[in-house]
Amino acid sequence: MTNIVIPLLYSETKGDTLNNMCMSDIDFHYLTQLVFSQSGIVLGESKRDMLYARVMKRIRYLKINGFSAYCQLLQDGYSGELNEFINAITTNLTGFFRERYHFDFLQQVALPDFKRNNPDKKLRIWSAGCSTGQEAYSIAMTIENQLRYWDAKILATDLDSKVLSHATAGYYDDLAGIAIDYRLQYCPDMNNSHQYVMSEKVRQLIAFKQLNLLAKWPMKGQFDAIFCRNVFIYFNEETTKKLVQRFYSLLKPGGYLFIGHSESLQRFNTHFSLVGQTIYQR
Ligand SMILES: C[S@@+](CC[C@H](N)C(=O)[O-])C[C@H]1O[C@@H](n2cnc3c(N)ncnc32)[C@H](O)[C@@H]1O
Repeated sequence: MTNIVIPLLYSETKGDTLNNMCMSDIDFHYLTQLVFSQSGIVLGESKRDMLYARVMKRIRYLKINGFSAYCQLLQDGYSGELNEFINAITTNLTGFFRERYHFDFLQQVALPDFKRNNPDKKLRIWSAGCSTGQEAYSIAMTIENQLRYWDAKILATDLDSKVLSHATAGYYDDLAGIAIDYRLQYCPDMNNSHQYVMSEKVRQLIAFKQLNLLAKWPMKGQFDAIFCRNVFIYFNEETTKKLVQRFYSLLKPGGYLFIGHSESLQRFNTHFSLVGQTIYQR
């Protein structure tokens, strides 16, 4: 993550005590600009309380003297804090088989399509903005016993390093959304402790990596499918439009783009065809 310098116009630390914290307009402006420049996430006025609460947790943890002191610390490039700040700001809501119709489509339409059109038996899927990993594991459970002897890989990326550690560890205490037959196959109960670890069969299909969608992408080959669901909602039109164009170039002809339930590409005049509920085909 690059530490770009956004000048603090004015710094007021007097009066900031742990019991009496206020986030000035200048602090709010500095923090929202920093989030935007680092992640593309737009935090408007309606997100002021959310920002306040999440930054407050960092201030308490660091035992510092308030919002202005926190902004100064970010501006000074205090070790690792930019990463912690961005981790604190991202919204990571997710779940297994969230928006189930995407996984039904994957199984019933996309997989037969891949089997017909990939004579090299190679499949590449990208879960972009994977959060704590449930999306990537849901894809893995859907394809695992359908593509025996295939070279199938799922790349799962997120900006937030904390959620990626969780995803890589693969431990979950809530399996809501996973059908019973998949639970039996892929989620053995760890010593009856009600902590479940994803089985090796699905773990070996997935590579979790930190990647900022705004940055340069290191991937060389094209993908058969990209899931970028419930991520555009945090971005503005310009960022979303650029990302949609980049996803288009990175998909094979005939490849699929899955986006979130409240997202749409309609206003972007793209070459994608709508082929299902929030499912597009190149
Ligand atoms: C609400 S979660 C969506 C998780 C999953 N795709 C789903 O639909 O269940 C949004 C994720 O996007 C990630 N994100 C936000 N901005 C990002 C960026 N610039 N680059 C990569 N990931 C980003 C967040 O860290 C968060 O984990």
